Amino acid sequence: ALPQKVKIVEVGPRDGLQNEKETIGADVKIALVDMLTGAGFANIEAASFVSPKWVPQMATSAEVMAGIQRKPGVVYSVLTPNMKGFEAALAAGADEVVIFGSASEAFSQRNINCSIAESIERFREVAQAAKQHKLRLRGSISCSFGCPYQGKVEADSVADVVQRLRDLGCDEIDIADTIGVGTARHVQAVMQRVIREFPVERLSGHFHDTYGQALANIYASLEVGISIYHSSVAGLGGCPYAKGATGNVATEDVLFLMQGLGIETGISLDAVVDAGQYISQHLGRKAVSRAGNAIVAK
Ligand code: HMG
Ligand code: MG
Repeated sequence: ALPQKVKIVEVGPRDGLQNEKETIGADVKIALVDMLTGAGFANIEAASFVSPKWVPQMATSAEVMAGIQRKPGVVYSVLTPNMKGFEAALAAGADEVVIFGSASEAFSQRNINCSIAESIERFREVAQAAKQHKLRLRGSISCSFGCPYQGKVEADSVADVVQRLRDLGCDEIDIADTIGVGTARHVQAVMQRVIREFPVERLSGHFHDTYGQALANIYASLEVGISIYHSSVAGLGGCPYAKGATGNVATEDVLFLMQGLGIETGISLDAVVDAGQYISQHLGRKAVSRAGNAIVAK
């Protein structure tokens, strides 16, 4: 049987916007997060405390975190690659910090400028500080199904990073398809491999829709018991260090799927469609969400 309830982590304000070339005002990001809060998400990835030289769009993260209206019980998470990021996250009042590594050596170097082993050492300090300050700690693993630089990635390499992040004390671990190359059976094989290392109820699927496989991969993950999914309003997004990578799976499409399956999310699809319209109008283009566009056209 499929899970009866899933947690959807809305990553649009971070993963969705980080790759936008034109600077988006903090006011627009704040309005977006507030609309998403209103839609009922329990977890919103709101910002990223990374080097502004690497990802200029996230330079307004402190302003965004200071401006949003927090709803009690909602977890606002931020990316923190190192202690500098952690200090900023702490000052900003983040509820959850995300350390982000990779199952691929080549991608680790391009994305965070260090090897996988070095990244774990950097994360150790961040993890300890998160525990000390009683913040939730999440670990994210890029290139779990393939890498733009080295190609194939073995399930055992993903499992190895899962073990290391587990040992650092992560509350939740994301299995991410950075470039969207995973297909259903492959996704199930990797998920089944990592479930041996970490509790299934604390693993999440983070799927980019580059090859149109994300919804199939979510369904495949549901079949093996994964109950946390990341998605991006209006299908925004792309990773600056994964050339050609397009957006995350659109939240509207995921919600439509879950509704049809009778799986509870606690989120209002109509409110997410409105948020998608808001940000798409601001960016001057049509939302990538199929369900969202269909609902608007009705
Ligand atoms: P580095 O150059 O090796 O680090 O970058 P450094 O410690 O030598 O610092 C260099 C400069 O950056 C210094 O400034 C630092 O102060 C500054 P300078 O002295 O030259 O003026 N700096 C910072 N500034 C603000 N906040 C910080 C910070 N750290 C250093 N936290 C580093 C290493 C990790 C910082 C860099 O590579 C970086 O910021 N990378 C960002 C990568 C990124 O954000 N990628 C996108 C997010 S991951 C993603 O999208 C994947 C995911 O969605 C899952 C999936 O789909 O795969 C999560
Ligand atoms: Mg991503």
